[in-house]
Amino acid sequence: MLKLDLSKLEGVISQDQINAMAPEVEAAHAKLYDPAAPGSDFVGWVRLPEDYDKDEFARIQKAAAKIRQDSQVLVAIGIGGSYLGARTALEVLPIDGPEICFVGCSLSPNELQKVIKKVEGKDWSINVISKSGGTTEPAVAFRVFRDLLVKQYGEDADKRIYATTDKARGALKSLADSNGWESFVVPDDVGGRFSVLSAVGLLPIAAGGIDIAELMGGARDAMNAYDKRDMSNPVWQYVAARNLLYRQGKKIELFCTYEPSYSFIGEWLKQLFGESEGKDGKGIFPASAQFTTDLHSLGQYIQDGERHLFETVIYVDDTGCDIAIPYSDDNGDNLNYLAGKPLSFVREMAFQGTLAAHQDGGAPSVVLRLDKMDVRALGELFYFFELSCGISGHILGVNPFNQPGVEAYKKNMFALLGRP
Ligand code: PA5
Repeated sequence: MLKLDLSKLEGVISQDQINAMAPEVEAAHAKLYDPAAPGSDFVGWVRLPEDYDKDEFARIQKAAAKIRQDSQVLVAIGIGGSYLGARTALEVLPIDGPEICFVGCSLSPNELQKVIKKVEGKDWSINVISKSGGTTEPAVAFRVFRDLLVKQYGEDADKRIYATTDKARGALKSLADSNGWESFVVPDDVGGRFSVLSAVGLLPIAAGGIDIAELMGGARDAMNAYDKRDMSNPVWQYVAARNLLYRQGKKIELFCTYEPSYSFIGEWLKQLFGESEGKDGKGIFPASAQFTTDLHSLGQYIQDGERHLFETVIYVDDTGCDIAIPYSDDNGDNLNYLAGKPLSFVREMAFQGTLAAHQDGGAPSVVLRLDKMDVRALGELFYFFELSCGISGHILGVNPFNQPGVEAYKKNMFALLGRP
């Protein structure tokens, strides 16, 4: 299980203050089970690691096996919650099998063109993912790639399209039904940003050769462990700490990782917390940084700029690979003091040094430490943050499960596009 370390908050908030938050956290946690609480229609994710549709899960595994067998490329089409979780898993964990390309997560012709080139002359399939079934970015990308697939495979294209969408509503559902595409369901009570452990995330993740039963197992362990209703629960401690920090003017939470391939954890977290908490004029602004890379860019601001931020650092000891620093006869670079040391040791010292420097500079850190990043650990991490986010949103006094703010740009865009 992950280890939560709040020691780098010393001098900013105390353990007594954290403990005193217990009644507030308890009430907020209970709201996830209260049918009268705001957003109570969208809490299916809370029990999802156990209460998922087992028949559909088997169909997902079967479809993934077929894609792995008949496709060199899977084009996964989706945006926001219909994209970020799968991409995170596929970047963080080792994968094999077909290359998974993501489109529909921007309106960039360049990005579409790159993937069009990738599928040329290859066998490939599409997983189109949209809960509403009508989001512009994925709908446009799907139109482009469906056209290519039909040109390549004719009627057989229908056997290479997998649609993940609402069980009954929306344009994508109607298309899937009328063309006989294999379909998977985004449960009614699971919103986009909480949907990584539904078919939304699971099909592309399984197509990448990742064991989704293990992913669910890790999340299930977390679900059972983090249901504990007292301050020994790391979720409670994290939730209490980040809300206390916010009340002290720490309005930005910078999610930091120390491995470039983990940067999508930050992207996933930005959506999870940004859409859940940023409303009614309130909410911690979620940002992300990739260390040590960004210590040479954002590092100056973090150390010395406006004192309105704190960090949540996700640090993994065993990232799956290590390299020893070689000895040099001439020692022209003066690095022989590190000869024989693994690179992970240097990274650990950078991590410790950064934590201390940022604490001294008034940018305190919450640390989440994992022994290793494997599929179970990722399942746990997903669930840890989902639960923390749901409880935090209720402490803030918002509905954590709606996103009225994302409609504003769409309204203007449709008016400018002349949508009938
Ligand atoms: O969390 C959310 O609900 C959103 O970010 C959606 O995931 C995103 O807008 C994509 O929506 P859809 O799956 O309906 O295409």
